[in-house]
Amino acid sequence: MRLLVTGGAGFIGSNFIRYMLNKYATYQIVNVDALTYAGNLENLRDIEMNPNYSFVHADITDAVKMNRILQSGVDVIVHFAAESHVDRSILNPSTFLQTNVMGTQVLLDAAIKHKVRKFMHVSTDEVYGSLGPTGFFQETTPLSPNSPYSASKASSDLLVRAYHETFGLPIHITRCSNNYGPYQFPEKLIPLMIINAIEDKPLPVYGDGQNVRDWLHVEDHCAALDLVLHNGRDGEVYNVGGNNERTNIDIVKSILSALNKPDDLIQFVTDRPGHDRRYAIDATKIRTELGWSPKYSLDVGLQQTIQWYLHHKDWWERIRSGAYRDYVKIKSPFQ
Ligand code: NAD
Ligand code: DAU
Repeated sequence: MRLLVTGGAGFIGSNFIRYMLNKYATYQIVNVDALTYAGNLENLRDIEMNPNYSFVHADITDAVKMNRILQSGVDVIVHFAAESHVDRSILNPSTFLQTNVMGTQVLLDAAIKHKVRKFMHVSTDEVYGSLGPTGFFQETTPLSPNSPYSASKASSDLLVRAYHETFGLPIHITRCSNNYGPYQFPEKLIPLMIINAIEDKPLPVYGDGQNVRDWLHVEDHCAALDLVLHNGRDGEVYNVGGNNERTNIDIVKSILSALNKPDDLIQFVTDRPGHDRRYAIDATKIRTELGWSPKYSLDVGLQQTIQWYLHHKDWWERIRSGAYRDYVKIKSPFQ
């Protein structure tokens, strides 16, 4: 099996490549990534010499390059490449539309042209919008995205669906909740808070800190994608979630307590505009149809992740000393 993984130098993509190469000795993986601010080939340093792995530096919106790569023969596309950070989408929506919508369309066209056997689209629970205090997102929940990021992901989901219906492209769409774990870029809540706490810097909590996310360890997400890839039904959407609902303030306090740091590092800052209040996933379909269940409890996974960041200071210091610094020093980009 030859897989084309897009966005493999990012957080989930790099974890997925490592997971698949470790599990399937004969699979070949081509990683295509534009190396935006979020793409970091150091995430794959331990496997870059693996003979079953290769890297192509290219932008998914570049149709000529995508067709050239697919010409070399690809069975399955696993599509992670995206602009992924909600706050950045509020500051600059256009790159989100370019990559997440137009880039997906370029890949879909190329997939049809080169008769790819399967197009796996990695999407997000954010396409469903926001929940009140009760209820769960199901695969049938209407799409109701609230940020430019989630609107661009919803648009790409609909394009993938349309290419299945219109052109018969074999597809799966997965919609996952908030991932955490090793190699997550330190702009996202958990790594940002861990690193700031280690460095005794303020921990910026948006609004009242009562927004709820459903946390899933990235390895559990990779296992779910592996199952969908091999056993998923053609044309189907699968929700993936950890049943680990926590308020942001709970997560932040758990991190401070694990690192023996005082709560007064917490700084409440101006809320994110359009901030979704609560996400919660009903993962019954993937559990019952494909036998998936998460291995990590949030308590164990969070401790492991904190240890990882403590032991990989070099990794995040190199990120912090680069372009990221200008972004992160703003306590809340909306003030
Ligand atoms: P990330 O930001 O860490 O990585 C994105 C990767 O895509 C980077 O390596 C970047 O260089 C690459 N990329 C961006 N634009 C590109 C382009 N035009 N051409 C080629 N490569 C490009 O993102 P992530 O957190 O690993 O998320 C991966 C995917 O999973 C995204 O599609 C995201 O929507 C989805 N997702 C993420 C989460 C989460 O919690 N992080 C949850 C559900 C779904
Ligand atoms: O639900 C899946 C989504 O999870 C993915 O599709 C996105 O790609 C991913 O970025 C993530 O989106 P969120 O907006 O939920 O993640 P983020 O880490 O940015 O924020 C998590 C929560 O923490 C959210 O309620 C906003 C809040 N937050 C975030 C940051 C960065 C803060 O309070 N302070 C912060 O500094």
